[in-house]
Amino acid sequence: MAKGADRFVCQHCGTVYRKWQGKCDGCGEWNSIVQEAGGDVVPRGLSSGKGRLIELSGLTGETESAPRMITGIAEFDRACGGGLVPGSALLVGGDPGIGKSTILLQAAALLAKRNVNCVYISGEEASAQIRSRALRLGLADSPLELGSETSLRDILTTLEARRPQVVVIDSIQTVFADNVESAPGSVSQVRACAQELIRFAKRRACTVILVGHVTKDGQIAGPRVLEHMVDTVLYFEGERGHQFRILRAVKNRYGGTDEIGVFEMTDRGLSEVPNPSALFLTNRREPVSGAAVFAGIEGTRPVLVEIQALVSPSPLATPRRAVVGWDTGRLAMVMAVLDARCGLGFGGQDVYLNVAGGLRVSEPAADLAVAAALVSSLTDIAVPAETVIFGEISLAGEVRPVAQSDARLKEAEKLGFARAWLPQSSKTAKSSLKLTELEKLQAVKDLFMS
Ligand code: TYD
Ligand code: MG
Repeated sequence: MAKGADRFVCQHCGTVYRKWQGKCDGCGEWNSIVQEAGGDVVPRGLSSGKGRLIELSGLTGETESAPRMITGIAEFDRACGGGLVPGSALLVGGDPGIGKSTILLQAAALLAKRNVNCVYISGEEASAQIRSRALRLGLADSPLELGSETSLRDILTTLEARRPQVVVIDSIQTVFADNVESAPGSVSQVRACAQELIRFAKRRACTVILVGHVTKDGQIAGPRVLEHMVDTVLYFEGERGHQFRILRAVKNRYGGTDEIGVFEMTDRGLSEVPNPSALFLTNRREPVSGAAVFAGIEGTRPVLVEIQALVSPSPLATPRRAVVGWDTGRLAMVMAVLDARCGLGFGGQDVYLNVAGGLRVSEPAADLAVAAALVSSLTDIAVPAETVIFGEISLAGEVRPVAQSDARLKEAEKLGFARAWLPQSSKTAKSSLKLTELEKLQAVKDLFMS
């Protein structure tokens, strides 16, 4: 490639081309290739010895852990890894209308009440609109400062002058930098704006919270570019039609991931749900076939959820497999193992699987509970009352031990369960539950057939 000639770079994977093309051969993405001004294709070597010597230090050097800023919304603080870290950048992603603006307005208003200097900048709503929402949420007495602006230059000038400790930008897709020639919301705009704001965060030790709308295919607009740039990524999830919302940490440089905060959307905003197990277990009633209670772990916290399966004869040539709250591929695997190792076929049957309450379960430890729900629905025999189930299933049909059995059992005990089906050789401490240890998936079938 000639020196100085313009080049065409895929904004998704970084592959460089001589000419524009619609589809990137590197990553398969469409319309991701953008013309960039030329320069040296391969930069000249930098090892000429003209750089400055960096001061290196050992691992045992001084560490200063800055105090975290606590909002007082325990579920929010938990998802952030124990409060906001000064100078960090957070991204809060989620579908439009899920409640991102609501939770951040609540968090910012409460922080401001605790004498943290907070600014909330919205590019989507006018200040009057936010004010009336705050009034409805009972937060009108908070000294939070509001701004309604989309120009990055104006936002940065204001922030430099005011020096807040926490700033919320709602949303990053509405902000535009006037030195970047593309429409607000485009990848280059989103990236440029986020970069400037994050640089401000580091320079002035101000916590920057960016709101990002998620595109239809589940990505934060601007193909994941924001995810590597920020320190913490929180996703706000929930099924439409359920009032429960889950704030999930998927990346955190200052704390554990997979930590969740559970909220309920009420007419006075989002309220915390300190005991999610009670919420995800649908009203406990007479046992019905097709339901199994899974003792799961979300982050550091045990959570019990009901897994429901329905197996019914299908009129279709290709029977339906519909899953809410779990992985479709994993369901196919569990059904294949049930078929191959236990002789329980699902051919000609529609299979529906649902995790109650709108939680998304990603742990493989749910395999056994899913299998139990499926077998229960297929045989129309209910799982014995007050039973919790957990365990991973291997392709060979073995039930494999999972981590943190004790925490799972303790939570079940606390909620009044009497029995547990769990993998053999789970190293458990004494438990008041009646434990049924399973070695093979076949044993689950036998529990129903006996
Ligand atoms: P919002 O925070 O505006 O969503 P996002 O910023 O993620 O797009 O939430 C909007 C939804 O929340 C809207 O459908 C109404 C509902 N809602 C309540 O049910 N109660 C409330 O007190 C508030 C403020 C919103
Ligand atoms: Mg919003």
